[in-house]
Amino acid sequence: MSLLGRDLAMDLGAASTRIYVRRRGIVLDEPSAVTVDGRTGKVIRYGTEAAHGAGGETCWPVSGGLPADIELARRMIRHFVRKVHWHPFSRPRMVMALPDDSTPIDRTALCDVVFEAEASGIVLIPHALAAALGAGLPVSDCAGSMVIDIGRDSARIAVLSRGDVVAYGAVPYGGHAVNMSLIRLVEREHGLLIDEAEAESAKRRAGTGGWITVRARDPDSGQEHALPLPVQRVHEAADRPIEAIVGEAMETVARCPAELIADLGERGAVLVGGGALLRGLDRRLRTALCMPVRTSERPLESVALGLGRCVDDLGLAGRLRNWRS
Ligand SMILES: Nc1ncnc2c1ncn2[C@@H]1O[C@H](COP(=O)(O)OP(=O)(O)OP(=O)(O)O)[C@@H](O)[C@H]1O
Ligand SMILES: [Mg+2]
Repeated sequence: MSLLGRDLAMDLGAASTRIYVRRRGIVLDEPSAVTVDGRTGKVIRYGTEAAHGAGGETCWPVSGGLPADIELARRMIRHFVRKVHWHPFSRPRMVMALPDDSTPIDRTALCDVVFEAEASGIVLIPHALAAALGAGLPVSDCAGSMVIDIGRDSARIAVLSRGDVVAYGAVPYGGHAVNMSLIRLVEREHGLLIDEAEAESAKRRAGTGGWITVRARDPDSGQEHALPLPVQRVHEAADRPIEAIVGEAMETVARCPAELIADLGERGAVLVGGGALLRGLDRRLRTALCMPVRTSERPLESVALGLGRCVDDLGLAGRLRNWRS
């Protein structure tokens, strides 16, 4: 049955959904977006087509690793699963990440949505554990491992020991907060508007120095301008979100059992998630935490890869769950 891709892992992110199929690796990576026709209320596009297509209202039905719009999330999950799981008679077993600060109600809601969407069975792995596994950290060791996941809407910081989360912290700042901050900065300093796609592009293009050009609109005349912007401005926009993440990381370390703090000083922290690519973040964390900080090899895919390890070895998932109980 495994040849039919019966088991799969899904990282349900606010920005992107990634699916890992047993023994095949990551086979789907699409924006977690759905476009609804304003007139009929019907879903007209999913994923990449929804994020980039024109017309209709595009919604992002996932937040904090959980369905925010239950109905749209269910349809989107079903659409994605059917794209990769083509067997007509068998539903897949699914491994998914459970946000570390979720309540029993969140957990039930996630399971309900996924079962209704397509799954025949579901295994939930703590999100931080999946991130750490995907980054290749030795999560079963007694010594502490620290993983910081910076996604679209939030940054989640966890210290793990023996497969268990022993300290946790989160702030509602990720890549989206940086984009919003850049939009506000351009409006304040130049009186011009840029949309989120343009802010996202500027953030990714900003190197260490020099200038970049952004497409901005005059709110009065509606005219478009090519606005030259010093790269320094983009870094300034990222300042406050980065400060909040650094502050929470320091508090999370302070909440750690004392015997683990020395390990962390030696082993350091690993950054995962798209926000890990924010320029200057690793350096600021290194200085503030006084520990080595490195970015995982495939930061955007770490959680999906960690969940994927549990798909390839469902025994591993069971053992990880036993450690927690
Ligand atoms: N090269 C880059 N430089 C800076 N930021 C980036 C880069 N690539 C992606 N990002 C940011 O990473 C974020 C998406 O990261 P990721 O795919 O890990 O989020 P997600 O898993 O979907 O969301 P979440 O974990 O919050 O549910 C976006 O906000 C995006 O702006
Ligand atoms: Mg994520």
